[in-house]
Parts: sequence; C-alpha cells; structure tokens
Amino acid sequence: MTSLFDSHPVPCSRERLEEGAVLLRGFAATEAPLLVEEVERIAQRAAFRHLVTPGGFTMSVAMTNCGRVGWVSDRSGYRYDVLDPDTGLSWPPMPEAFLDIASRAAAEAGFANYDPDACLINRYIAGAKLSLHQDRDEKDASAPIVSVSLGLSAVFLWGGKHRSEPVRRLRIENGDIAVWGGPARFAYHGVAPLSDGQHVLTGNVRINLTFRKVF
Ligand code: SIN
Ligand code: FE2
Repeated sequence: MTSLFDSHPVPCSRERLEEGAVLLRGFAATEAPLLVEEVERIAQRAAFRHLVTPGGFTMSVAMTNCGRVGWVSDRSGYRYDVLDPDTGLSWPPMPEAFLDIASRAAAEAGFANYDPDACLINRYIAGAKLSLHQDRDEKDASAPIVSVSLGLSAVFLWGGKHRSEPVRRLRIENGDIAVWGGPARFAYHGVAPLSDGQHVLTGNVRINLTFRKVF
C-alpha cells in the first residue's frame, strides 16, 4: 500500500514490503547532496576497496565504513573490526547527518531510538551487484537495518524471510530508504547488476549507506 506523508519538503511515499519492512521513497532526497559530500570526506581517510570473500571472490561492489566498527571480509571470514585493515587506523566517525537521517527513517518505520554504531558504504559502478544475502553478522538483532540509496538508481532485490520465496524487484532511486527489522530483520535482499548511467550528484556510480547496530 502506498500513502503520502505531508510535513516533508519533497514528495515521499511509503511502501510496505512485508511486516517490519518498508520502503520510504524520497525520504533522504533533500539531504542527499550533503550525504554524498560526507561520503567523499570519509573516503579520503578510509578509501573504497574491493573486499575478498571467504570463498576467494573479489566483490564487484567497492566498500568502506564509518562509525565505531566497520564490516570487513577476507579469506578468514566476515567480521566487524574497530580498525580499517588497510590503514590500521580507526574508521572515520559517523557524521551527524548520517545519524540524523538514519534515526528519523527508523522512527518513521516504527523503530524508535535507533542508535547505529556502524555504517557500511557501498559503491556500485555499471555491472556491480550484490547477491541475495541476509545481514546476520550483527549481535543486536533487535535493531533494524536502514539502507539509504544515493545517486544512480538500482533494482533492489527483496527476497523475504526464506531463500525459497519469490524475489521482488524494486526500482530504488536517489533519496530512497529501505528499513527492515523485527520479523523482517533477517530478510534476504540484494542488488541487481547496476545499469550504465549518469547522476548529477554522483556521476556514474550508485552509493548505498547501510546502518547497523552491531553491539
Ligand atoms: C547491503 O545489502 O548491504 C546493501 C544493499 C544496497 O546496496 O542497497
Ligand atoms: Fe545487506
């Protein structure tokens, strides 16, 4: 069901994906330029890199992090680490603007007092994709995942709670935010290979911020 909410400077709508999961279209449209600037600042200290999976594949999506801990992967497995393995330094702090948009989106989706300690930043170029997966490396499963799309649009894959469920394909655009928690916290999701394109904010890339409460 789609409904419009008022009291917002740009048009937004809410689309329920399933119980505990919602797509807030346009929710971060106003803040998007500032969020992209913050990503550029973060990447100067913690550069985007292509991580290797435990199985030995190099991911097509380039990643970095900000916050108390960052998500990393290598041949030994997936984990959250307080240090950036590329520099040996702590990850850049989470910008105020990140915390603000993430907690407002979580509240809008019904999750009050959201206080994420990690933000994984994904960068997609044409052809880059993220296979269907669950986010399950976090110790605090009571908090939702908040996922902010910036720049080029993409096709978000929403698979529901079981791998066997049919996968929905949803176009997500600059400023859209997906929130999933509660009964949907371990829903399968992914991103289809990105199409070529140009966006005024990000050029030929899509950026995604995923907020997590790890501890
Ligand atoms: C993720 O699953 O971590 C990111 C999803 C996205 O890029 O939209
Ligand atoms: Fe994910």
